[in-house]
Amino acid sequence: MKIAVLPGDGIGPEIVAQAVKVLNALNLDINMTEAPIGGAGYEASGDPLPDATLKLAKESDAVLLGAVGDWKYDKLERHLRPERGLLRIRKELNLFANLRPALLYPELASASTLKPEVVSGLDIMIVRELTGDIYFGQPRGIFKLENGEREGVNTMRYNESEIRRIGRVAFDIAMKRNKKVCSVDKANVLEATELWRQVMIELSAEYPEVELSHMYVDNAAMQLIRAPKQFDVMVTGNIFGDILSDEASMLTGSIGMLPSASLDENNKGMYEPSHGSAPDIAGKDIANPLATILSVAMMLRYTFNDEANAQRVENAVKKALAQGYRTADIWTEGSNKVGCNAMGDAVVAAL
Ligand code: IPM
Ligand code: MG
Repeated sequence: MKIAVLPGDGIGPEIVAQAVKVLNALNLDINMTEAPIGGAGYEASGDPLPDATLKLAKESDAVLLGAVGDWKYDKLERHLRPERGLLRIRKELNLFANLRPALLYPELASASTLKPEVVSGLDIMIVRELTGDIYFGQPRGIFKLENGEREGVNTMRYNESEIRRIGRVAFDIAMKRNKKVCSVDKANVLEATELWRQVMIELSAEYPEVELSHMYVDNAAMQLIRAPKQFDVMVTGNIFGDILSDEASMLTGSIGMLPSASLDENNKGMYEPSHGSAPDIAGKDIANPLATILSVAMMLRYTFNDEANAQRVENAVKKALAQGYRTADIWTEGSNKVGCNAMGDAVVAAL
């Protein structure tokens, strides 16, 4: 198993170090190679996705990524900014299927800002399309109009095959779960998502056992807070998925708990926490490494087909939580507050 390890910026290096510790503790035959991405890539070679990093990622079976971005790069030209490195690697590796499971660990019911009875037992899989939509649609840019005024332009577009392939991922996952797919769109206003809805309906004919429902994105944002347990699998486009997955993460107590997998057609994947680089807490040993550690579990499950070890890692996280270990973001009165490194150690010890 060849894994490219890309720590990135901000808290990226500290959380990835914990995930690497967990991988090492599994005693598998793994070959890990580290490379810079994001601001770190820019510092190393003037490019948020250095050629050598892309080459390494292409040659590897899986990529483990921390996070990218730091305010200090916000003034760079857009193509040099850390986020561009992330978007490019997703596109270059054709990682169109982003899986973001929002799962509430019972121990964290009181860490959520919602009432425990609203979130207890929560288990949602958000399937976000990751290589299309307004994130990549052309034309884009900031243009000068004839009257001298500037205009910012982005383009939301989806073609049928892009919609169908992400739909298939969602339906296939639903078949292994509670057989419910909620497709989220804004078909009442946006044609790109009107087509999205049509294609989902067509595709559902191939999955007679799965119950397909549709929801406008504004309503979905509201329903996630009102009654989140109504959802099993949610499938949506890139921008709506970006927003709804951050929202869903808070149902689980903290965005520090939400892992993700980004897969291509052959289940080659990139695994990263759903949260960002949090430069404000970088280097302080207070970040929550569990989303990254849980991303390793997803790597074992989806790319390496190793369900047993995936569950070992997930159970080790559960055990560390049951033992009362909490990073600051999920800490509640009476539990044992630990730093990033100590949380990694607690998971390794539980393993
Ligand atoms: C995410 C992030 C990225 C995105 C940013 C960092 C470009 O918010 O993975 O959700 O918008 O996709
Ligand atoms: Mg996001």
